[in-house]
Amino acid sequence: MKLKPYGFILSLFSAAKAPPKPAMAAPSLAQTSANFHTSAPPEPPQDLDDDLLCSDPQAQGREPTDDASPFPNGSPGRCLSAGSRAERAWAHWAELGRPKLIVAPMVDNSELPFRMLCRKYGAEAAYTPMLHSRIFTETEKYRSTEFTTCKEDRPLFVQFCANDPDILLEAAQRVESYCDYIDINLGCPQRIARRGNYGAFLMDNLPLVKSLVQKLALNLNVPVSCKIRVFPKLEDTLNYARMLEEAGCSLLAVHGRTRDEKDGKKIRADWLAIKAVKNALSIPVLANGNIRHMDDVESCLKETGADGVLSAETLLENPALFAGYRTADWIVGSEESHKDGHLDQAELLVEYLKFCEKYPVPWRMIRSHMHKMLGDWFKIHPQVRDELNAQSKLTFEFLYGLVDKLKDLGLRIPLYIKDEDVVRISANGSAT
Ligand SMILES: Cc1cc2nc3c(=O)[nH]c(=O)nc-3n(C[C@H](O)[C@H](O)[C@H](O)COP(=O)(O)O)c2cc1C
Repeated sequence: MKLKPYGFILSLFSAAKAPPKPAMAAPSLAQTSANFHTSAPPEPPQDLDDDLLCSDPQAQGREPTDDASPFPNGSPGRCLSAGSRAERAWAHWAELGRPKLIVAPMVDNSELPFRMLCRKYGAEAAYTPMLHSRIFTETEKYRSTEFTTCKEDRPLFVQFCANDPDILLEAAQRVESYCDYIDINLGCPQRIARRGNYGAFLMDNLPLVKSLVQKLALNLNVPVSCKIRVFPKLEDTLNYARMLEEAGCSLLAVHGRTRDEKDGKKIRADWLAIKAVKNALSIPVLANGNIRHMDDVESCLKETGADGVLSAETLLENPALFAGYRTADWIVGSEESHKDGHLDQAELLVEYLKFCEKYPVPWRMIRSHMHKMLGDWFKIHPQVRDELNAQSKLTFEFLYGLVDKLKDLGLRIPLYIKDEDVVRISANGSAT
């Protein structure tokens, strides 16, 4: 059956209600984040001011409340048969509302204000950026700046990279009451991950990966999820996925590209490999790669049988993707069936900045989103981008002024929506 996008979007919206969860103390600052995976925008001037928080977070501080464990009878992996573990994994997923539209983990980019913006526009769950487990255990400044959340920020995956089970457990225990999954990054292919021996480079040491997953599954109160890349050979991928499930992984996100396939814009993700993983496992499986608009979501879910999709790069340009909006790139050839969605990236950016005023983050993250969301606009008026790059110390006044300047230049680049996809987002973020 071909799903009608409008009904599809609305039914997913209504299925996405997460149970109430505890609030989290909001952060202050740090400059230790591994700056990997960044791409494209012209380099801003290097300045420590970019690592400063955009405002004082003191007013945000909230203590966690007592959280009921999603696994009230103990840790998910403890003393259970494979069948019972899978049942529990599904029960947890169902309790979260079976989210299908998910913000992928992105260093310096899937931070709280961006997650909140994406949630407002249809995202049903989100990952934090990858956190470095050792630095997280050692440095208060890193913890308070790099991990922030709030009670509306659920369902939430908190992602760590690690290569030591004890350190990973210590890091995970600090945040488990603020999230719905502790996720292990097994997919980062960057040089920094090779040097640090984490991410996709752990594909060369599967016994270590197994011990990381087991350690968490046996000792945490929230389930463990993993995000992997595929091996060049399908059989290796399937053995890997089965091993993770047996070790206690409760949900697996599969990025359908190999460790060497780094250019996501040029290399298509292998949905057939994701489908094979889905068929081989009993736990929920998420598909990652090639999600650029809602038609991709629909095809991916159909072709892979996956339980949800993650999107990364496209969301950075268009955080309203999951509400049915698309950039002009994705209407080529079907212009007649699309119309101006009466929303544009500059408006989304203003909404993002408002979230940043509420939930402070380092300026470097805001700068990165400015480049991503206004990339098309800057191509037309590069002098405005130059002005941003020349500004080493950012302020909200300056950034709002920059958006006004683009508008005063008479520029507007709409996001488009399919005729049948008209979803209106109310001020509180619900679809009407
Ligand atoms: C800016 C950026 C940062 C990323 N950081 C992370 C990360 O912290 N952890 C991770 O597992 N993947 C990270 N990724 C990879 C994405 O989560 C995703 O797997 C990849 O981009 C493929 O999805 P896409 O085709 O929708 O972009 C990052 C990607 C981008 C573009």
